Amino acid sequence: MPADDYEALQDAVLQVMRLDLRLYKREQMERRLRAYGTQRGCKDLRELAQALRTDPALPAQILSYLTIHVSEFFRDPRFFQELRALLPQLPAAPHTLHLWSAGCSIGAEPYSLAMLLAEERSTQRYQILGTDLDERSLDRARRGVYRDDELRQVDPQRRARYFTAEEKEFRIRPDLQRFITFRHHDLLRDAYPADQDLILFRNVAIYFTEEAKDQVLQRLSRALAPHGLLMVGSTEAILRPQELGLRQVRPFFFARA
Ligand SMILES: C[S@@+](CC[C@H](N)C(=O)[O-])C[C@H]1O[C@@H](n2cnc3c(N)ncnc32)[C@H](O)[C@@H]1O
Repeated sequence: MPADDYEALQDAVLQVMRLDLRLYKREQMERRLRAYGTQRGCKDLRELAQALRTDPALPAQILSYLTIHVSEFFRDPRFFQELRALLPQLPAAPHTLHLWSAGCSIGAEPYSLAMLLAEERSTQRYQILGTDLDERSLDRARRGVYRDDELRQVDPQRRARYFTAEEKEFRIRPDLQRFITFRHHDLLRDAYPADQDLILFRNVAIYFTEEAKDQVLQRLSRALAPHGLLMVGSTEAILRPQELGLRQVRPFFFARA
């Protein structure tokens, strides 16, 4: 029996959405779910759990409410400067580079990566995988249409080269889009791809419990090719990399130990 109404909702979320809330920090999740329940007129989380079992529109709404999707092109530009400096470490052609943006939200991160590769590795083949839990974000990523504020860090040359301007919005050009595949993937549940040359895992683990975050980092380290690099954000700071099978090579960058 669930101990309280939060646990009752946790059970429903697991059964209906296959999302394990025990791996996320309770305080933040509970606050968001209570606010969402109140907004819907539910008197407590048991009532929200009941609604989740009967209303087919609820899973997508709850998921979007629970997770933060804020992203932009070249978010934290210093990360991308570090990345540019490290790119020569990745194998050259004829090797096809496999790169994974894990928790890619609306796609700004994998598209930024694609731009960097178009500039630094223009003659090499590469495949970028963008994955996320949230289908609504993935729909936006596949559509590839962005607002001006999401392109704050994109200079006029890149805007002209990689986007088509459409009234107030900007559409990614198909020649950049064709190197990226967007796919639904839960980092806390699904199997990981293997042999990745570069993995970006940034601003995703903010609500993961410490144990869940460590487990994900261990699995990401095993998903790297022997020479592969893992790039994390400030919210994924790794204090004891060796315990996770990693070693630090630059600020925010790790390789397999
Ligand atoms: C704030 S966005 C970060 C996007 C991008 N990495 C960046 O730094 O701009 C966090 C994303 O992580 C996703 N996310 C949260 N939990 C996840 C999980 N268990 N598996 C996959 N994605 C997850 C959310 O849906 C959200 O789109």
